[in-house]
Amino acid sequence: MTILSRRSLLKASALLGASGAAGLLAGGSGLAGALKPQAEPTVLKARPLDFDLTGKGQTRGMMTYGEGPMPPVLRARQGEAFAARLLNGLDEPTTVHWHGVRVPNGMDGVPLLSQPYVYPGDHFDYAFTPPDAGTFWYHPHCNTLEQMGRGLAGMLVVEGKDDPSFDADLPLLLRDWRLGGNGQFIEAFKARDAAKSGTYGTFRTANWRKEPELSAPAGGLVRLRLLAADVTRIYTLKLDGATAQVIALDGNPVPNRFPLDTLMLGPGQRLDLALLMPESEGAVVTLTDIRGSQPKVIATLKATGASLKRALPDLGVLTANPVPDFDAGAASNLDMQLSATAESAPKQSICGTLGYTFWSINNVAWSGDTDPTAPLAELKQGRSYRVRIANPTPHAHPIHLHGMNFVVLSSNMRPVQPFVTDTWLMLPDEKVELGLVADNPGDWVFHCHIIEHQKSGMTTYLRVV
Ligand code: C2O
Ligand code: CU
Repeated sequence: MTILSRRSLLKASALLGASGAAGLLAGGSGLAGALKPQAEPTVLKARPLDFDLTGKGQTRGMMTYGEGPMPPVLRARQGEAFAARLLNGLDEPTTVHWHGVRVPNGMDGVPLLSQPYVYPGDHFDYAFTPPDAGTFWYHPHCNTLEQMGRGLAGMLVVEGKDDPSFDADLPLLLRDWRLGGNGQFIEAFKARDAAKSGTYGTFRTANWRKEPELSAPAGGLVRLRLLAADVTRIYTLKLDGATAQVIALDGNPVPNRFPLDTLMLGPGQRLDLALLMPESEGAVVTLTDIRGSQPKVIATLKATGASLKRALPDLGVLTANPVPDFDAGAASNLDMQLSATAESAPKQSICGTLGYTFWSINNVAWSGDTDPTAPLAELKQGRSYRVRIANPTPHAHPIHLHGMNFVVLSSNMRPVQPFVTDTWLMLPDEKVELGLVADNPGDWVFHCHIIEHQKSGMTTYLRVV
């Protein structure tokens, strides 16, 4: 039981008195728990930015949150109130979605489904208590290809009470930019690529820098928090010069740690690595993306100081997050097929349109931010569902559910652990079974996180009542 200070009690009751605030606090969700003291909101101003990203002069028309250049790494604590006020300093509507965080529906950031558009000059108050510890992120859910493509994506680290202690904690936001030779933005996508694996960026960065050189204590244990924040790129990660274990995927501890040999990370996904730095000062660890024809260095880590002489087995376990147990015996089936669709007329939207429809789920194409029609399914609150997804297309699709997690049950293509995740990278021809406990009421979008696919039809939503 949390003991409320007099100040926070006063604040909480003042908020409850304000119109509409009760919804913020209760949210209608079992996850939000009892009335918690309100946190001071972090101010997150979405704004345009001109910034020298490439080292060759300013790139004009970028977008960011906060004082930055890069959107801040926000920190919250598991089970404690968190609040952020979005101020819209852009000249178009926007919202914030807290990717992977099991928030009450009204805090989820999807225009028309869960909140109003935030128009230029307006603000919106997000307030929730993160139930899970781990690595999450935040980004807009309106004109997403353009807004994310120009910079709007940041990390959210939720600290757990019993997190093991590391000698360094390094968040690394991976993304590309679509820039021409002069360092200025070019067209956000090409239609022929949107109909395939998506349009790739031309300039790769980690933490908004090209091949950054980071440092960490020699012989020390590092928690490397990787986020694939790109709108298109799937990474195959390889590490040279150090041993590392995967300790968490998409915010959740993995059931059994495994070495980072090579691992694919799709847009939207996060990977937490426990990395043991080499003993000798000056030794360099290299993180590379080996997908595609040429391996590309993502970042390097240089060992500094005298060795701390730590070892991976020193590391305590990460406490599992309090996700509900999937009940295989009582589960009903829910089938989904990802498919390419014949071009049909795209709908105009306040949140922009690509002007094309290329993709669908169960043969219905929706862009996610025009008027929704019917939900793909209506789920009963508290029930378990075996979501069977088939990807008969020749392309990979990182498929993401808002508001709830899945447990990975099986794949026809690869061995899996019962990972708890919000984003699963569907390989071509893959069929998976994912266990879902529908414990969070509301309308929740489910979409491919290759944003061109999302915006050209590969989006649907589930209703939990
Ligand atoms: Cu990170 Cu609806 O997405
Ligand atoms: Cu896709």
